[in-house]
Amino acid sequence: MKFFVDTADIESIRDLAATGLLDGVTTNPSLVAKTGRDFVTVLREICAVVDGPVSAEVTATDAAGMLQEGRHLAEVARNIAVKVPLTWDGLKACRALRQAGTMVNVTLCFSAGQALLAARAGATFVSPFVGRLDDVSEDGMALIRDIRTIYQNYPTIETEILVASVRHPRHVIEAAKIGAEVCTVPPDILKKLVQHPLTDKGLAAFLADWKATSQAIPRKGSA
Ligand code: G3P
Repeated sequence: MKFFVDTADIESIRDLAATGLLDGVTTNPSLVAKTGRDFVTVLREICAVVDGPVSAEVTATDAAGMLQEGRHLAEVARNIAVKVPLTWDGLKACRALRQAGTMVNVTLCFSAGQALLAARAGATFVSPFVGRLDDVSEDGMALIRDIRTIYQNYPTIETEILVASVRHPRHVIEAAKIGAEVCTVPPDILKKLVQHPLTDKGLAAFLADWKATSQAIPRKGSA
């Protein structure tokens, strides 16, 4: 599964990119607004740090406006994936942008029917929002299972499931068990994924025992 980080904060992105485990970035108007910075400047900085797809969302709601905004965003960097909402206008813009060779992430997906239409529109990615479904007592991961089942019935579908609106590490694990291609994760949750108290405890014990040997492993080369 590919790990994308769900933020427009460049320092968080730099920090995670340094691990070599970051496959892409997703932003949305709310995440960009949170930075208080110029949208295109932020996108340029992100695209200079991450080689993988960087989602940048249009704010027009009509197909023509989405297409015009999408063309502008696609020119920022070659790895921009234009984000459009899952509406009829968004699907129309998706098809036109895909025909022009632009990556498209169809977002705000909340049903299998919507995901089927996104695939029919040739979306590069579809973003089902699992956390927001859970928030209203629906089952976000059940949607991911449904989309996976439907997409697997049609080998010609190349749209990748990009699990979004992730609230905790279990969402990431469940997404991987289902076989979603991508999970976009807020930085703090991505960092939680690596943490386990028994790892910390075990490492401390190893180091304490090693210290008692009064040995040191020689180091070679620069970091
Ligand atoms: O990429 C979509 C994601 O940012 C939405 O997450 O937490 O606002 O539901 P959230």
